[in-house]
Amino acid sequence: MKCIADIKVLRELLKQWRIAGESIAFVPTMGNLHAGHLQLVNTAKAQADRVVVSIFVNPTQFGVGEDFSLYPRTEHADQEKLQDVGVDVVFMPSVEEVYPVNELTKVSVSQVSENHCGAARPGHFDGVATVVCKLFNIVQPDKAFFGEKDFQQLTVINAMVADLNLPVDIVSVPTVRELDGLAMSSRNSYLTVEQREQAPQLYQSLCAAKALIRDKKIAYVDIEKQQTKFLAEQGFRPDYFSICRRYDLKTAEQGDTEIVILVAAKIGKTRLIDNIQVDIEN
Ligand code: PAF
Repeated sequence: MKCIADIKVLRELLKQWRIAGESIAFVPTMGNLHAGHLQLVNTAKAQADRVVVSIFVNPTQFGVGEDFSLYPRTEHADQEKLQDVGVDVVFMPSVEEVYPVNELTKVSVSQVSENHCGAARPGHFDGVATVVCKLFNIVQPDKAFFGEKDFQQLTVINAMVADLNLPVDIVSVPTVRELDGLAMSSRNSYLTVEQREQAPQLYQSLCAAKALIRDKKIAYVDIEKQQTKFLAEQGFRPDYFSICRRYDLKTAEQGDTEIVILVAAKIGKTRLIDNIQVDIEN
């Protein structure tokens, strides 16, 4: 496995692979890799000749007062994990390599970026879309792999790729969970022992809401209120609990068939997000 920090060096290697007719899969990450990331890598490996993983903690997607400086940086352990699963290249650029000048251009995806996490974290999805667009232009992969845990991020990236005709196929990979249901996330490492015990209730609230939606007896708005109250009673500070249409993340109505329930809540200082999909037969 090669570790490359320089865009020119990476591009030269990728050029050789393309000349040899090899397909390239790309898994962008911010490091602190867990089984969810490795699932992305394994899915990528099954679908392409070569796999490139980037590790870049992107400053532009963190707001003022967010955890950019504290975000866990575990490059050495990450490299070992990627080596073990047989990644070809890990691209680990510096901030100066990715943002060498005060850039005048940013990618902003309207509508699907604006509600849910977009409302709570202004500018976050502009930072994500811009860095992912830059990384796509650097790597020029055939396919790129994203986890469904960050469902709104996935929706934003799909919209960006479609709207800008970016020549890459986006592959979404189901969320990997701990045995007690907690979605794997780099931010789980912030949780105290007590908070870690509470945390699976986030997923439990999603499962309860899914069952109630399928039951079709309670209005969606009341399910949202009920589960928000449940989370508050369990010691979370819920940010949103939203039953949405999967394709545009707007409020779902009775009669919509493809639904995603999105939740974000804080335990202590840690903000956790999760989601669950529901298919309804009318
Ligand atoms: O999901 C992440 O880890 C990040 O948002 C991403 C896609 C690597 C962009 O920085």
